[in-house]
Parts: sequence; C-alpha cells; structure tokens
Amino acid sequence: MKENKTFYITTPIYYPSAAPHIGHCYTTVACDSIARFKRIQGYDVMFLTGTDEHGMKIEQKAKEAGVTPKEYVDPIVANFKRLWETMNISYDRYIRTTDDYHVKSVQKIFKTLYDKGHIYKGEYTGKYCTPCESFWTESQLDENGCCPDCHRPVTDAHEEAYFLKVSDFADKIEEFLTKTDYLSPKSRVNEMINNFIKPGLEDLCVSRTSFTWGVPVEFDPKHVVYVWVDALSNYISALGYENDKYDDFAKYWPADMHMTAKEIVRFHSIIWPIMLMMLDLPLPKHLYGHGWINFNGQKMSKSIGNVIDPFVLAERYGSDSVRYQILRDMPYGSDSNFSNEIMIGRINTDLANGFGNLLSRTVAMVDKYFGGTLPENREEGDFDSDLKEMAQGLAHSVEKLMDEAKLSLALTEIMNVVSRANKYIDETTPWILAKDPAKSARLATVLYNLLDTLRICSALLAPFMPAIMPKALEQIGAKESDTEYDKLSVFGVLPADVTVKKGDALFPRIDVNAEIDYLNSIIGTKQEENSDSKQEKPAAKVEDEDLDKAGLISIDQFAQVKLRTAQVLACEKVAKSNKLLKFQLDDGRGGRQIVSGIAKWYKPEDLIGKKIIFVANLTPAKLCGELSEGMILSCDCGDSVKILTVDPEVPNGSAVK
Ligand code: ME8
Ligand code: MG
Repeated sequence: MKENKTFYITTPIYYPSAAPHIGHCYTTVACDSIARFKRIQGYDVMFLTGTDEHGMKIEQKAKEAGVTPKEYVDPIVANFKRLWETMNISYDRYIRTTDDYHVKSVQKIFKTLYDKGHIYKGEYTGKYCTPCESFWTESQLDENGCCPDCHRPVTDAHEEAYFLKVSDFADKIEEFLTKTDYLSPKSRVNEMINNFIKPGLEDLCVSRTSFTWGVPVEFDPKHVVYVWVDALSNYISALGYENDKYDDFAKYWPADMHMTAKEIVRFHSIIWPIMLMMLDLPLPKHLYGHGWINFNGQKMSKSIGNVIDPFVLAERYGSDSVRYQILRDMPYGSDSNFSNEIMIGRINTDLANGFGNLLSRTVAMVDKYFGGTLPENREEGDFDSDLKEMAQGLAHSVEKLMDEAKLSLALTEIMNVVSRANKYIDETTPWILAKDPAKSARLATVLYNLLDTLRICSALLAPFMPAIMPKALEQIGAKESDTEYDKLSVFGVLPADVTVKKGDALFPRIDVNAEIDYLNSIIGTKQEENSDSKQEKPAAKVEDEDLDKAGLISIDQFAQVKLRTAQVLACEKVAKSNKLLKFQLDDGRGGRQIVSGIAKWYKPEDLIGKKIIFVANLTPAKLCGELSEGMILSCDCGDSVKILTVDPEVPNGSAVK
C-alpha cells in the first residue's frame, strides 16, 4: 500500500465561451481515468478541473447578450458541471477563475513577480481586429494573417502593458525540458525548443488596459491581468497558495500530472515552469500534451460547426461507452478522428463483441451447467497457464502505461486479455465438456479461469468505465475485497465455489445502419434543443452561434462569398515575416495581390504557374505592410497546409460555385 503517497492531476481550465464538446471530454475523461486508477492503487488523489472565465471575449459576448460577464458565464459553467456529472467525472475540486480566493492569489503572484523584477511595464504592439475589438499577437493570427476569430483583416495597434521577462530564463527552461521527462511525448520537446526557445524566447504580455473583465493589477488598477498569469496560477491557487480558502499546497504540490491538448503545451511547458522558477516554487513532474479529436479532419470547434454534443452521445450509448471510445481511439501523441461510424464500430467490436460477449457467455455457462455456483473440484488442462499468465501480468503493464498517460495502449492491453479469454473458450469447448459428467472438474476449472480473468479485467477497466464495471463484477460474483489492487496481479482470488448472478447484457450490440440514420436525423434538432435548454437566457441572443451549432448555412449565405480562380504569376516571401508569402495573381480582371500565411509549407518558386481559388470579396487588409486583396483557399492537412489547386484548363477569373 502507498498510504502516504499523494497524486495531483489537472485538466486545463476551460473557457466558458461555448458549449462543452467531445474534445473537452477527452482531457477530462483521460484525467478522470488516471485519477481513479491512482485511487485504486491507494494514492491520496487531488483531481482538479475548472473554468477560465476572464478576458475580452467573455466581456464582449456578455455585452452582446445584455448581461454582466459573470451572469454570462454562470449558466455555461453550470452546463460544464452537468456534463462532468453525466460523464461520471470524479473531480475533487472545481476552480473558477472568478472565485475570490483565486483572484487574491493572482494579485499576490503578480505583485511578487513584479517586486522580484520579473514583470516590467512596456508597450504592447500587436494586431487589432476592429469588429471583434480584439488584440492579437502576430502568432495568433490565422493562416492569412487575419483575425483568428472572424477571419477579417487586422490593423497595427499599441497599448501600455506589463510583460513577464521570460527571456531571462531561456537557458534554464531548455535545460528543464531536455534534462527531465517533464514534457511528453518527447516529440513535443523538440517542437518547443525549435519553434520557441531557439529562435529567442519573447517576453509575454501579461496585462491589458483595453478591457476590464479580469483580475485588476493591485498596484496599477487600470490594468487587468491578461490570460496566462491568471489561468496558469489556478493550479496552485486551487491548493491554497497565497489564499486562505484551502490549505493543501504543501500536501499536493508539485503536481504529478498536468494534461492539455497540444495547442497550449507551449504555455504549460515554457511559461508555467518559468513562472514557478520565478516564484522559487518546485516544478511539476509531468505534462502530457495529447492530440486533438478531429471531425472530418478538422479540429472540433464551435465556429466550424462540427461540434459533437456529448450529452446526446452519453444519453444514447451510456457515458462508459463514450469514455471508452474517445480514450481508445486517441493514439498516443497524435490526433484522432471522430465520426459516428467510428464510435459505433468501436463500441460493437470491443465492448459488445469483446468484453460483453465474454462476460455473458461465461456467466450463462456457469448458470446453465452448474446452476450458478461452481463445484470446488478442479482439473488443470491445456491453455490454462497461458491465460493465467496474461491475466496476472496485466495490472503491471497497465500501471506503467497509466503513469505515462498511454491510455489507448492500456485499454488495448486489457482488451488483448479479453480476446485471449474469448479464444480460450473456443479452445477448451466447454459445451463439449458439459456433455460428459466425467469432465465436470475440467469444466468447472475452465469456467473458473474465465471468471477470474474477468475479475482482473473488469477491475482494471473500472477506472475507465466506472458506471458499468461494478455491474460486471457483481455478475461474476466478485466481492469488493476481490478487487483490491494487490489482488489484481494474483490469479485465483475468487472463491472456488463462486456464485454468479446473471444479469442484463451490459453492452448491447448496436445496429449500425439504423443508428447512423437516427443520428443523422437528429443532428441540428436534438443537439440544438439540448444546448438551448442547457444554456438558458444569456447565451440566447447570439443568433449566428445558433447557426454554428447545426453547422448549416443557407445557399444565399454561401453565395455571398465570391470565390474565383486565378493563376500565380509571381510569388515571394514577405520580408519581416516567416509566415507570409506575397502572390501576384492573374485573376482575369487585371491582376491582384494576395498575402497568405503559408510560407512554412511552400517554396515560393514551387507555386508559380499554379491555378488556385481565392475569396474575391474580402475587405482588403495590410499584412506586415503588404496589401492583401483576398484570401487563397487551402486545406488543413493535420501538420501541414496545402493550397487548393484547379485544373490548368480552367480560365482565370472563373466563378467557383
Ligand atoms: O485553452 N480535442 O481553454 P479551452 C482534444 N482556458 N482536446 C480538446 C479539443 C479537441 N478537439 N478541444 C478542446 C484554454 N480540447 C485555456 C486553458 S489552462 C491554464 C488554460 C481540450 O476551453 C484540450 O485539453 O480552449 C485543450 O487543451 C483544452 O480543451 C482547451 O480548452
Ligand atoms: Mg482553445
């Protein structure tokens, strides 16, 4: 037993700017499964999640909705909590950055950093999107150098601001990332070093004066703390660091595991450890940066309209099946693709045909051949030792994989044992043994081995599927004490005369075609209905968001976007930028110039002569001083971007419809 050991695990704190989707569920379910696993191992676990509620965007949305920012976020936060209840998330603490104690901590942390000379006042120059009233940094802009939210052009802007002097810590952070196993997968370490540290760490802007919805800087109240100092501090304020609300900092800090998706790994692997170094605090032990759940190759997001409503899925298939599928199908370190077909296929293969079938066949045979209770006489035979060895070794390998956040692999290991057991049934043919009374001891042994394998598998699956696995354990006649962690590496724990309890099929097989038809029929109706009832008043006013929910626009709306073909006459890099390429296009109407953020993926000379599609009626913008009259269409191919090309025979300037 690990009596005195603690384990502190965190999800990101989510922006309550939209309804939570299956992507948010991934991190939370992954952390929940690890937290539950650590609890059965005997750790004293602190599992933290929460919401990141400040910022310009929330301020704006609240204004549009005619409510205060707090009134705007409250129902959305309630909805997040309702989702976590639906998904059986066993968080120990929920932090809201609007909680008083957190605000106090952030103010103190900001002041300490300032007093120690790690924060200085300077001028923020960035990009400003007038329609959104939003400041952006160059790196936040979309691939065309436009506003990442509305994709309209941005202008240069200045604002007095405080900066965090992270540049002083470049060597220290590089050493931390390379000499420890803090950040995994390892590939992300190289990414961080090559993309952010080697080119020269830039100081981070940590305050703003252009909006007020944030933690006020105590000693200069026209500033509010902006984003990362506020957000990242949640991991320590939630334990009572610099506040009186909690008193667990000494007990749980440093964190054992932070988990986020890849887009914010940079803040968690560079900025956060540097902040802690500045505060002279111990550094967290591990950060796991996982990939995204994509939908048709695109990251799920509300603005793209590809959000899958987890409430609908959980209601239909049960939260355990959804938890299983998203964890099982996320390969370690890369992205996964979600579709209804993939989900139903996975549930059928692994849960209905795999685990569910093993359980129901085994219990049914004990019932049929022995009236539900096994006789105690035994006879060992072929195949037994292979199955037992696999089952006994399982907990050890799962434990190791859980420590490394390799959840899909952990599930694969467990399902391998399930498959082995299903095969064992075919090898030992209990239905033939049952015909010969002289083989009763052998039959009892076979069924016992299956039950004890099920005990181990169900107990190890319980952290992933906490709703159903207790029922599985009940069906095989396991008592709570039979599933103690140390007993999961031992074979033969169930009593020899164990009594099973036949029950319902725990994972009924889904009729794929009927189900897909059904899901298609409810998209945009059920999902909308659901989110409306959940979000209540404040969010209701935002009409264009309701459209996003269904992902549907009218033909007239589409027709407003004028798409045309053109040929690349000349292409060169924009000086001062490593992202932008400047195109001279023959658009069949005297030519135009477009600047596009694809320099990372193309050599300018390779593009000359290509025929492309561009948006012809975008408001012209200046990007790094260069005029851009439109936007070239490209597609996001995971790690790269490819421009869309058209057949060389298409005349320049043709309308694309
Ligand atoms: O970034 N696939 O909040 P956020 C997998 N407030 N994971 C996904 C996902 C997807 N498609 N979409 C979202 C923020 N996530 C900040 C964080 S932390 C101090 C501050 C998950 O609401 C994933 O964990 O945008 C990702 O990192 C997080 O949601 C981003 O949540
Ligand atoms: Mg985000």
